[in-house]
Amino acid sequence: MREPQRVLDPQLPTSVTIYEVGARDGLQNESATVPTEAKAEFVRRLLDAGLPIVEATSFVHPKWVPQLADAGELMTTLVSELGDKGRDLPVLVPNERGLNRALDLGCRHIAIFGSATETFARRNLNSGLDEQFAMFEPTVARARAEGLDVRAYVSMCFGDPWEGDVPVEQVVTVGKRLFDLGASQLSLGDTIGVGTAGHVRALLTAFNEAGLDNDALAVHFHDTYGQALANAHAALEHGITTFDASAGGLGGCPYAESATGNLATEDLVWMLHGLGIETGVDLPALVEVSTWMAGVLGRPSPSRVVAALAG
Ligand code: HMG
Ligand code: MG
Repeated sequence: MREPQRVLDPQLPTSVTIYEVGARDGLQNESATVPTEAKAEFVRRLLDAGLPIVEATSFVHPKWVPQLADAGELMTTLVSELGDKGRDLPVLVPNERGLNRALDLGCRHIAIFGSATETFARRNLNSGLDEQFAMFEPTVARARAEGLDVRAYVSMCFGDPWEGDVPVEQVVTVGKRLFDLGASQLSLGDTIGVGTAGHVRALLTAFNEAGLDNDALAVHFHDTYGQALANAHAALEHGITTFDASAGGLGGCPYAESATGNLATEDLVWMLHGLGIETGVDLPALVEVSTWMAGVLGRPSPSRVVAALAG
C-alpha cells in the first residue's frame, strides 16, 4: 500500500500521540446499531494497528446515547480479554453515577466533558454552564482519590450551533476551570467543525497565557467544514503533540446540530508521516480496520485517505 514520501520539517515535533476516538465519538452517532462484539473487535484492531490510546465508550445515560448503551458489556469483554490494557482504555464519564459504573469494571482512565456554552451544556448534559461544575467536581475528586487519570474535554470551543461565535476568553475560563479540577489533559473540541487555522492559534496562545502548557493540551477537530487537517497542522506548528482523531473519519455528537465526523485518523497519519513525524501507527493496517468497519456500518468511510488506499 502506498505511503507518503517523508520530507522532514525540522521546525516540527519528531513524534506525536494520536488519541483515537472512533469507537466512542465515531459510534455514538451512527444510526446503525453495532453489535458489542464488533465494537470489541474494532477496539482490539485499533490497538493492533498501533494506536497508543483508544477511547472505548461512554458511561452516560443509555437513553441519551442508545448507541453506547452496551458500555458495561463492552468494557467487561475488553477487560477480561486485554487485562490491564483493557482497564487503561479511556471511557467518558459525566457524573458520579457514570464513575461508579467505570470503577466497578476496573477502568483507570476517565474523561469528563464540559461545555464552553450555556446552550450546549443544557442540551448535552441537562445542566447549565455553571451547574456542570457541580456534577464534575465530586466526580473528578473521587476519581483522583481512587487513583484514576482524568482527561477533560471542552466542547464548542470555536462556535456553537445555537449561540454562534464563542469568545476565546469564555472558552479559556471554562477550559481552565475544568482542567483545574484535577485533569491531566484538556482536549479542545471543535464540536461542529467551524474553526479555522488563525482561530486555533489564537485559542492555543490564550490557553498558554492562562498557564496551560502545550503538553497539557490536546486538539479535537471535527471536519464539518473541511478544516480539520489544516487546523491540526496549525496546532502542530504551535507545538501541540496530542491529536484526537477517529478511524475512518466516523463521528459527531447527537446533541450538536450539524456536527459531522472527526478528523480521520488516516488523513492525520498521512500528513504526519509525510512530515517525518512518528505516530507508531501502521497505516495499511488502520485502513483495513476502517474498511472493515465501513462494511459493518454499511456506508463508505468519509476518510479521503481510506478512499484512496482501500480501492
Ligand atoms: P439527567 O437526565 O439530568 O440525569 O442526565 P439525572 O442525574 O437527573 O438522573 C436521571 C436518571 O438517570 C437517574 O435514574 C440516574 O441514575 C440515571 P433514575 O433514578 O431515574 O432511575 N443516570 C445514569 N444512568 C447511567 N449512567 C449515568 C447516569 N447518570 C444519571 N452516567 C446526564 C444527565 C449527564 C446523565 C445526561 O445528560 C447524559 O448522559 N448526557 C450525555 C450526552 C453525551 O454522551 N453526549 C455525547 C458525548 S460529548 C461529545 O461527543 C463531545 C466531545 O466529542 C468533544 C467535542 O467534540 O467537542 C467529547
Ligand atoms: Mg467530538
